[in-house]
Amino acid sequence: MHRRHLVPGVLAAATVLLAIPASAASFSPGAPGIGDPYYPASGNGGYDVSHYDLRLKYQPKTDLLEGTATLNATAKQDLSRFNLDLGLAVSEVRVNGRLAKFAREGEQELVITPATPLQKGKSLSIVVRYAGKPSEVRIGGYTAWARTPDGGVAAQEPESAAWWFPSNDHPLDKATYDVSVSVPDGHQAISNGVLQSQSSKLGWTRFNWRSNKPQAPYLATLAVGKFDITTDKTASGLPVLNAYSKDLGDNDGAARASIERSTEVTEWLEGVFGPYPFNAVGGYVPNVTSGFALETQTRPFYSPRQFANGANVSVVVHELAHQWYGDSVSVHHWKDIWVNEGFARYSQWLWSEKEGEGTAQELADYVYATRPAEDPFWQVKPGDPGPDKQFDIAVYDRGALAVQALRNEVGDDAFFEILKGWPKKYAYGNAKVSDFVKYAEKVAGKPLAELFDTWLYEPSKPAAPAAAESRI
Ligand code: ARG
Ligand code: ZN
Repeated sequence: MHRRHLVPGVLAAATVLLAIPASAASFSPGAPGIGDPYYPASGNGGYDVSHYDLRLKYQPKTDLLEGTATLNATAKQDLSRFNLDLGLAVSEVRVNGRLAKFAREGEQELVITPATPLQKGKSLSIVVRYAGKPSEVRIGGYTAWARTPDGGVAAQEPESAAWWFPSNDHPLDKATYDVSVSVPDGHQAISNGVLQSQSSKLGWTRFNWRSNKPQAPYLATLAVGKFDITTDKTASGLPVLNAYSKDLGDNDGAARASIERSTEVTEWLEGVFGPYPFNAVGGYVPNVTSGFALETQTRPFYSPRQFANGANVSVVVHELAHQWYGDSVSVHHWKDIWVNEGFARYSQWLWSEKEGEGTAQELADYVYATRPAEDPFWQVKPGDPGPDKQFDIAVYDRGALAVQALRNEVGDDAFFEILKGWPKKYAYGNAKVSDFVKYAEKVAGKPLAELFDTWLYEPSKPAAPAAAESRI
């Protein structure tokens, strides 16, 4: 970068000097993982992506996905080669316009060797042409792609990107997204952010989506199918777009009765967490058979089964709370999952409190009372649950007990200041559990390490409920 400021003669000399050792010691491969202790293969080292442009075509009948991904990135070290995470088959790679060599290593790693080594600080344009059937991709024996009767869906945590686009697949590398997907007329392609345009020709309809704030790869989503789309605006002018599979059967009414309240829920959450961080909001329900929901950025994914017992506004509160806690402020490493799930669960308790269905304190007392000491629930450490227990109910419920314990310890004024201040301080970034503890201590003006040790890190049932002190 600073070479630009050198006089021409010096620049030429510097170029010659740099060209000689280019293939030697100083240029090295980017690491095949970003360094997450739970998921060593997730993400990659050596570069940082700022933008993904995906131009895809999907055929529901055959599950064939094909297209081109263009990544804008920056080299973070002198790079001889680097990896992307992708499970589909690649036919061509270019780096800064020039054809690059590529090879697959294992199930998920695409190793790219550019024609010439890449200097630290260099801007990279990486073009990957690829195709395949996402439902046939298996990484660690598992698939994050769900086929539906009328299409398919990518929505999973901690990974889903490798089933549909090449990426640096870890929350530590966030980027903006343009996702353009062509599907047979009569189908829709749903993704994150704002639908910029859609147009139809030759029997295919193309949907152009834009998500213009930093987004982790696992929070990018794609759903193809036959959807009914509704739109709205929040009081602050934020566009709301919801999509319902036309095939939700008996769950259709309850799904709409829940997700149409996303507008109201977002406005309420803004009161608790501060300004909504993204350019759109909403939700979508594809006709999948799985049972979970996921906070895909700006537009959470909901399985129809979430609505099997009637309206479930609580799950909408949970996934929209994640837009602040999880999506704007993301985990540093996956061991920090409590910073997502503890607060998303607690926001459901706050909603219950507001709706008159039980206060957060009452719900905390209920969890404490209904989990005997011998319940393995208490052996899970929400502050570092391990990859096998990352989404254990204890990360959610015991995680929310930790939040209630904090509230009782610091009082409502400091507590709600923390709830609002945290997403502002770490907006669009990453944070660790220890960052939260430090931040809460600073706002509250008192040490809290012991409290968080008890509720997040002890592998046993704490002696007193989260509220004991405050009720005396
Ligand atoms: N973050 C998601 C939620 O709590 C959890 C997704 C877990 N994945 C799964 N396949 N159950 O909303
Ligand atoms: Zn969650």
